[in-house]
Amino acid sequence: MTELNNEHLINCKILPNRYHILEYIPKNSIGVEIGVLGGDWSKHLLRVTQPKELVLIDTYYSDDYPQAKRFTKKTHEQYIRNEFKPYDKQVKILKGLSWDSMATYNENYFDWIYIDAAHDYQSVKKDLFQAKRTIKETGLIIMNDYIMYDHFTKEKYGVVQATNEFMVENNYEMLFFALHPDMFCDVVIKKRSV
Ligand SMILES: C[S@@+](CC[C@H](N)C(=O)[O-])C[C@H]1O[C@@H](n2cnc3c(N)ncnc32)[C@H](O)[C@@H]1O
Repeated sequence: MTELNNEHLINCKILPNRYHILEYIPKNSIGVEIGVLGGDWSKHLLRVTQPKELVLIDTYYSDDYPQAKRFTKKTHEQYIRNEFKPYDKQVKILKGLSWDSMATYNENYFDWIYIDAAHDYQSVKKDLFQAKRTIKETGLIIMNDYIMYDHFTKEKYGVVQATNEFMVENNYEMLFFALHPDMFCDVVIKKRSV
């Protein structure tokens, strides 16, 4: 496990939850949510940050949360397209594997990137590789589920390992660590200016 040093954390602030991150995302900017599921978080991103462009990437082949049951694998894509139809001037829906969809964007395109798709180490590495290429020099990368292990599904996550490695290798610092009731925390990282 790659550990972070003081230089990666010196400017880091702890936030009560991920909703507080929204206040720090620049308004009227270009952002992408990688891993959308029911679009609940996408709606918060849209409402609070009022983006010039919001890209929503997912394979759109998942069942909804069992307690919600708004869509099945077969109706996932159509559900999202219907939900975001009123925002079609701002929102672009891209269906496919996250790293393939991100590969279609030019370098330095996004002001912020929210990563919450597959949580295994290799997948997060691939998402971060594309994030590094497509994020602007001063852009924010936000990692959801910065946790080693899902204690509900008993799955191992690679988010902490992949994120720490990325930060150390690419001279990034952590700006925010947002808590979550079950510790599925979010972290916001940015390239250091020195
Ligand atoms: C945890 S959910 C996203 C939740 C959403 N960000 C939120 O906060 O409400 C993960 C989503 O990522 C999608 N997903 C998983 N692996 C993916 C991949 N490699 N490429 C694209 N989408 C993927 C799944 O279909 C699922 O909808």
